[in-house]
Amino acid sequence: MIISPSLLSANFLNLEQDVLELSKESNLWLHLDVMDGHFVPNLTFGPIVVSKLKNFTKLPLDAHFMVTNPSDHMDWFKDVGLTNFTFHWEAATHHDRLIQKAKELYPSVGISLNPSTSLKVIESYIFEKVDLVLLMSVNPGFGGQSFIEGTIDKVRELAAIRKNKNLSFTIQVDGGVTDKNAQKLISAGADNLVAGSFVFSSGKGNYHQQITKLRNP
Ligand code: DX5
Ligand code: ZN
Repeated sequence: MIISPSLLSANFLNLEQDVLELSKESNLWLHLDVMDGHFVPNLTFGPIVVSKLKNFTKLPLDAHFMVTNPSDHMDWFKDVGLTNFTFHWEAATHHDRLIQKAKELYPSVGISLNPSTSLKVIESYIFEKVDLVLLMSVNPGFGGQSFIEGTIDKVRELAAIRKNKNLSFTIQVDGGVTDKNAQKLISAGADNLVAGSFVFSSGKGNYHQQITKLRNP
């Protein structure tokens, strides 16, 4: 089980301290929410901040692009050392072309679906091309929102697609994840849980304990 703490809830005035505390963990990705104030009503950071982070952590950088022009962002971030590049299905028109381009630039490529986007809109061969599928369990844009319960069935549906097609892409869930829903998500087939406020609102020094609660709810 991979846990991806979302930096959106970290202390932006001292990211170094928060990232160093997390860097002691194993099976951990650092989840970076890139927002453009257009696809979502919020703004975060760009490639300059991410390249600074890369200098002091060896954790895999997992970037979630909530942007209307993922193709441009794919170019802007190509040299900052991202491990995973995830873009929103709703933001793209030529999904296949984007996935192909991203695979040339990044070790791992993911697609993300808003809570209201059905898995049925995705042509089934696409699942063979991606490394990760992110199911949003809140409406993207902000941390600290309540988990949408229907996501558990969606995880189950996606896990069935993965099994039937004999694939191994990662199923990541993002939004409102806590120790109250982690077990249900894991049982349904999720293998990567993003958690922002659940990890960081515990205060520094407590991140390990919160991450352990998600792994063993
Ligand atoms: C929301 C972001 C999430 C967010 C999750 O749009 O994609 O990664 O940081 O935060 P919590 O875990 O607080 O819901
Ligand atoms: Zn995210």
